[in-house]
Amino acid sequence: MNVAVIGAQWGDEGKGKIVDLLTPHFSVVARYQGGHNAGHTVLVGGTKFVLHLMPSGILHPGVSCVIGNGVVVDPEALFEEIATLAQYGIEVGDRLAISDKAHVILPYHRDLDLLSEARRGDRKIGTTSRGIGPAYEDKIGRRGIRVGDLADPSAFAEQVRENVMARNRLVGDSALEWQPLFERMVTYGERMRPWVKDVSLFLAQVQAEGRSILFEGAQGTFLDIDHGTYPFVTSSNSTAGGVCTGLGVGPRSIGSVLGVAKAYTTRVGGGPLPTELSGPMADRLREAGQEYGASTGRPRRCGWYDAVAVRYAARVNGLDAIALTKMDVLDGLPHIDVCTSYRCGDRTLTEFPGNVLQLAACRPVYERLPGWSKPTGGVRSYGELPAEARSYIARLEELSGVPVGIISTGSDRDETIFREESVAAAWLGQKA
Ligand code: IMP
Repeated sequence: MNVAVIGAQWGDEGKGKIVDLLTPHFSVVARYQGGHNAGHTVLVGGTKFVLHLMPSGILHPGVSCVIGNGVVVDPEALFEEIATLAQYGIEVGDRLAISDKAHVILPYHRDLDLLSEARRGDRKIGTTSRGIGPAYEDKIGRRGIRVGDLADPSAFAEQVRENVMARNRLVGDSALEWQPLFERMVTYGERMRPWVKDVSLFLAQVQAEGRSILFEGAQGTFLDIDHGTYPFVTSSNSTAGGVCTGLGVGPRSIGSVLGVAKAYTTRVGGGPLPTELSGPMADRLREAGQEYGASTGRPRRCGWYDAVAVRYAARVNGLDAIALTKMDVLDGLPHIDVCTSYRCGDRTLTEFPGNVLQLAACRPVYERLPGWSKPTGGVRSYGELPAEARSYIARLEELSGVPVGIISTGSDRDETIFREESVAAAWLGQKA
């Protein structure tokens, strides 16, 4: 069965670890959106890998990795990541496929990202400054350069020249010359050529052979360009719908959808976060959870679990199960609050509002649950969790309407609980 792994909050939910755990039961891991703004952290035998563009499956020999047409590819970042992996003895070899339809991030996209943020003043998105938004803007504006274009220099020279001229006009300097940039891209194109494929066709063949695909989401539901807290979002569809458009697979290819949610909430960058905490409790969560951006090192904003938000994520993604991560970060708290609804003026909202101004005016309504003193760090079976931790999970299941199938109790692969009755446990029985 093919499974999509999707962030059910604002990104950084711990998808990297979950994808890494499930990968041995799949033949292919496929990224369908985003770019090197993502930071998927995987800890293997004490070595920490932070993957940005490469699907997390690359850490497993024999697993093929796909970068779909919905991804934006910075060739410089790609080759840097390949070089880092090689230092650890991980060879990409012929295990990588990059869609010929994926759009390329060029240096002018990074300049435009910075410019756009500077112009927003106090309405900054807080982007990762990787040029993600401007690259998607060029795609939608039909002036983008695709990976497939790099194979034919005559086909994209004029477009690079026009784009660089537009960049120079906007930035107000002529610092960027199009010719050397174009030549660099031609070289990158030659280096990438062995991996460039019709990804949709490749994935159809994989499925026809009865092999399984893991669709790896980046960012999270609330950073989705359509369903997130617009405009404080990334520029792609990180929700389950993005799988089909970002890879060229039909909706029936998605056998099951796993949402990944932290046992509390974090966000990095601007925009409303209804359960955001400040003061000692925020600091405690940030330090215990090491909540600093994997890509940018920025401190993450921290808050309690928002069940209204996760219920919304369950709806827009059609979640079958949740992987609840970082349970151990809540160890030792006397009590834990969970947001069950919002108070907005004189109204109580039980559904996540579609409008960011309305969301910003919402105050969380909390239910207070008892904490636990016995540590959950490293616990590997559900029965060994303290009774209060099990009650906490049961209440989250009730509130979001989705069963929790996987619980992560630490950053290592082994520090994980698979609940036997869950659909997620069944994936562990499947052969790649
Ligand atoms: P961009 O994707 O760089 O354009 O950034 C847009 C918003 O998405 C900003 O608030 C970023 O902090 C956020 N963002 C992008 N990628 C990630 C991620 O992998 N984890 C968490 N937040 C992200």
